[in-house]
Amino acid sequence: MSFNVGADAYDRFMGRYSKLLAPQLCDLAGVEAGQVVLDVGCGPGALTGELVNRLGPAAVSAVDPSESFVAAAQERHPRISVQRASAELLPFADQSFDAALAQLVVHFMADPVVGLSEMARVTRRDGVVAACVWDHAGGQGPLSVFWRAAHELDPDMEDESQLAGTREGHLPQLFREAGLLEIEDSVLTAGVEHPSFDEWWEPFTLGVGPAGVYTAGLDATRQAQLRERCREMQPSAPFLVTARAWAARGLIQPASQ
Ligand SMILES: C[S@@+](CC[C@H](N)C(=O)[O-])C[C@H]1O[C@@H](n2cnc3c(N)ncnc32)[C@H](O)[C@@H]1O
Repeated sequence: MSFNVGADAYDRFMGRYSKLLAPQLCDLAGVEAGQVVLDVGCGPGALTGELVNRLGPAAVSAVDPSESFVAAAQERHPRISVQRASAELLPFADQSFDAALAQLVVHFMADPVVGLSEMARVTRRDGVVAACVWDHAGGQGPLSVFWRAAHELDPDMEDESQLAGTREGHLPQLFREAGLLEIEDSVLTAGVEHPSFDEWWEPFTLGVGPAGVYTAGLDATRQAQLRERCREMQPSAPFLVTARAWAARGLIQPASQ
């Protein structure tokens, strides 16, 4: 899945939820002052910002395959290192970081086990790899009403529920396959109040991620049908969307082994 969209569109669509996960993922990973940390799949910088606040810019590096997101993250955080790269081939030497984090990225990796193994490779012995992915399979992600409505209108369409890490227990399984140790899994939550239905809906038309690409591929009539079915399914405004993400952290092999 490529993200060739502007940072503002991302912020309005997904950043409004993902920024709420960042402190929770950092806490799960035990990110604290003095560490040097990598943000994998940084997007425009929701998690990056939290890392900079905790560690200072000199201690934060970030990568993302999207050119527009690399540019946005670098503009927002001019004093950190941001490079264009994928998780599966990280441009860093072995054991460069105390921790490597990926927020809402594992399900987009071409090969999640290779991506997590690369994150482990660039993390020092005793260091931490941590990641989170929305609960798309359990219908508790921030886009679940949208995907339910889309399925009703088009039962054959593909949503995000089959993607890696989106079902309960799959993220820790991927961590195990990547060779991580002492794996702990957890649940993160993000609650966003939407003042109106249109404020919730309009970002789906900006072409961001699988839901945005799906919406952009509909003709005007079908897009209007989808919008109106979503309107029926959402509570009357203002309404709260509470989303759940599966999270996991694992340790790299201890230095003594
Ligand atoms: C939902 S966004 C998450 C962005 C950011 N981490 C956040 O929490 O807002 C998914 C990001 O993963 C990136 N991505 C997709 N495939 C990737 C891969 N193989 N390796 C690293 N990042 C990838 C996309 O470019 C995009 O920025």
